[in-house]
Amino acid sequence: MRIDKILGFGALMIAPALGNAQASDDHPTYANEVSRIIQDNCQICHQPGAIGPMSFTSYEEVRPWAPLIQLKVKSRDMPPYHYDRDTGVQELKNDWRLSQEDIDTIVAWVNAGSPLGNPEELPPPREFPRKGEWRLAADLGQPDHIIRSTAWDVPAEGQDLWWEPVVDSGITESRCIKAVETLPSAAAQGSTHHANSHFKILDEEGEWVDSDRLSEFALGKLGEKVPEGACRRAPANSKVEWEIHYFPDGNAVPQDQVQVGIWFYDDEDDFVEEESYKQDLRAYRLDGGGDYMIPPHGTLMTQGFHSFDHPVRIDSWQPHMHLRGVAMSLEMFNPETGRKEMLSQASNWTAAWNHSHTYEEGYQPLVPAGATLIISAWYDNTENNPMNPDPDQWVGAGQRTTDEMSHAWIAVTHLDEEGYEKLLVEREERDQRSLAGSDD
Ligand code: HEC
Repeated sequence: MRIDKILGFGALMIAPALGNAQASDDHPTYANEVSRIIQDNCQICHQPGAIGPMSFTSYEEVRPWAPLIQLKVKSRDMPPYHYDRDTGVQELKNDWRLSQEDIDTIVAWVNAGSPLGNPEELPPPREFPRKGEWRLAADLGQPDHIIRSTAWDVPAEGQDLWWEPVVDSGITESRCIKAVETLPSAAAQGSTHHANSHFKILDEEGEWVDSDRLSEFALGKLGEKVPEGACRRAPANSKVEWEIHYFPDGNAVPQDQVQVGIWFYDDEDDFVEEESYKQDLRAYRLDGGGDYMIPPHGTLMTQGFHSFDHPVRIDSWQPHMHLRGVAMSLEMFNPETGRKEMLSQASNWTAAWNHSHTYEEGYQPLVPAGATLIISAWYDNTENNPMNPDPDQWVGAGQRTTDEMSHAWIAVTHLDEEGYEKLLVEREERDQRSLAGSDD
């Protein structure tokens, strides 16, 4: 055991004083390893004009923050992606979590005094996508349809702000969505913390009858493609309700607008709506209709249950809670086997970050007809919860940020028995191939 491991945090505090002189061959250095980890995982948010509070684009910028970086990557607070590693489906798209190896490298580097190493080993600066341009355009061309939030003046200074306008979707004919991307303006890229939107579906009289999620965004996120063979509908006769979280970054942006671009399936894509399974993205509640109160300085857990009369495939899962929410899980109980299975859990969740966890193709949970989804949420109204604005309050369900709220956004592809069996067989064959060692 090395002495710095035994001393733990104490060693971390004194190590930086030793400085570069301590750099030696058996330590990672900034030049040979750490710079690459920072480029790939941190710079998208930690560069001038992005949402991170400090810039990490050079050794000089990173070095003073080394001890705090060590702390934040070890605790897995940074990069912000809160999803448990030791339980549930681990095959996720756009997974931001650092590998244990990268975390160990950063920890060892800081323990060694955060040395620069040989500057000749530094990688060239990393190129990032141009601000204010659609990232999916390289692949799919310009979007077929764009929806904009109502213009709003983002102030230079102040607290978190939420802007929730409702706009017309402008969609005149229901179509199947192929891909969707959210684009903050270039000027407000540093202050647009996240932006979500959903369709409000109206009946003939213009009354709101249903909701369907359209988009979910936090900086660094790419657009989202709908899995092939599934139809996520962009409904005609709908409005779009925005939920934008701005965090002023020193730059005032008058008349800011966030955009959502939609690419549709069309005939040329050989895609027939009638022959594909319907996919929808909905909020599944787990608050018993809002009938709960979290006591001052107390904690609470609520659960919701849902089952389908047909088999389904779960394509993505996203916890939604407010400031007292600290954890959520998604399990499946299968009455035929009597087994309960963990599908996904975020036990270090925080309202500061929103992610839709999209399962990799072929690893999406399959839910037989009659099985029950169990969604559990935990709330912490004590002072141990750093997001808690006031532990002396009783907190009930409601719309305001200081009220609590809990649901899970789940994208579900609605299958029939034939489609379900087909997917089961495909997976069995894949697992057998990999058991036989011939998987590519
Ligand atoms: C998606 C954007 C994003 C990514 C990616 C990201 N950060 Fe951050 N980081 C932020 C924001 C925003 C804050 C300030 C608010 C907060 O702490 O949540 C922050 C804060 C921090 C802080 C200061 C924490 C404090 O308590 O003051 C450190 C250190 C940090 N990040 C390190 C990193 C490192 C190292 C990486 C990569 C391994 C990384 N971040 C990746 C957005 C990001």
